Amino acid sequence: MSDFISDFWSHYVTVVVLASILACALLLWVTARTRAPTGSDNTTGHVWDEDLREMNNPLPRWWVGMFVLTIVFGLGYLVAYPGLGSYGGELGWSTRSEYAGDVAAADRALEPVYAKYAAMAPEQVAGEPGAMAIGERLFLNNCAQCHGSDARGSKGFPNLTDNDWLHGGTPDKIRETITQGRTGVMPPMAAAVGTPDDVKNVANYVLSLSGSPHDSLRAGLGKSKFTACAACHGIGGVGNQAMGAPNLRDNIWLHGYGQEAIIAIINNGKTNQMPPQQGRLTEAQIQVLASYVWGMSNKAAAAP
Ligand code: HEC
Ligand code: HEC
Repeated sequence: MSDFISDFWSHYVTVVVLASILACALLLWVTARTRAPTGSDNTTGHVWDEDLREMNNPLPRWWVGMFVLTIVFGLGYLVAYPGLGSYGGELGWSTRSEYAGDVAAADRALEPVYAKYAAMAPEQVAGEPGAMAIGERLFLNNCAQCHGSDARGSKGFPNLTDNDWLHGGTPDKIRETITQGRTGVMPPMAAAVGTPDDVKNVANYVLSLSGSPHDSLRAGLGKSKFTACAACHGIGGVGNQAMGAPNLRDNIWLHGYGQEAIIAIINNGKTNQMPPQQGRLTEAQIQVLASYVWGMSNKAAAAP
């Protein structure tokens, strides 16, 4: 309810809930009072199937009692629990607090499991089958929607298995990436490069760096324009992990491959975000995940 900007819906729900309960009570009361006219034999005069007659017996007392109890219970429930608009109930119970309590309890139960791994070097954790089973599950639940269930990524979402890193591939850097998130910002560069023809030339120069198919005449003309890019991508396009600027020589493309894709990124720029997991995952979970991710591109080095 707190998501609404005015109190209107809160009042609306309160009125509808109380009016419904009142209507039930009223129905009970009215039907108990009014008696349908009956004949001397207590039948209403309705006859079906030739000889089936409707009698007018009062509701059994136990049944009325249950009805009254239901109403009393309903009112009591509404005092104790949330139900009347934004009123939170006397017990202070909410789905959110229950969920938070469950998560805290689960975290406490798992603490000893994680404590073992926290004391180990990430390279060793990557060689622990138990830790990697946990890492895989954490990855599938929290990371696979973006990076893919095999962690190979897709357009815009980096492949985490290829040992090609935007922000650094040491266990420490990976943990930093997961904890704090990352924002890669490639600004629109067309104005700095010059005319659309200049943009096309520098795009061909970029393609030439990885030996991709390109127009070598244009690549030659574009080379000098690349100084505007080298501030981030490094001299010769080797990349710069401090800026998250990708290596342009390795023929691994995060945002698409070929002249059109590169021209588009020079013209429009690109902002790409890895969401921070601090607060969503515990430090211990992040430690296991960092080891898991590191292990995927360092299979041989992961200590058995
Ligand atoms: C909402 C989508 C999304 C989710 C969820 C997500 N990531 Fe990412 N992740 C990204 C994007 C986008 C990038 C690239 C950021 C950039 O371009 O600088 C990235 C980058 C990374 C990197 C850095 C790769 C490099 O080359 O340096 C790592 C490591 C990583 N993610 C791990 C994870 C892990 C582990 C999880 C699960 C806890 C996760 N990510 C969840 C979108 C996501
Ligand atoms: C301010 C720093 C900065 C400058 C200047 C810059 N880039 Fe980038 N560039 C980035 C970053 C950061 C990314 C990665 C964006 C992301 O995280 O997805 C990127 C991504 C790219 C990509 C996509 C690579 C891929 O793997 O798909 C290309 C191509 C590219 N830049 C070319 C250029 C060219 C050409 C220039 C010069 C005209 C240039 N960049 C100037 C920071 C920069």
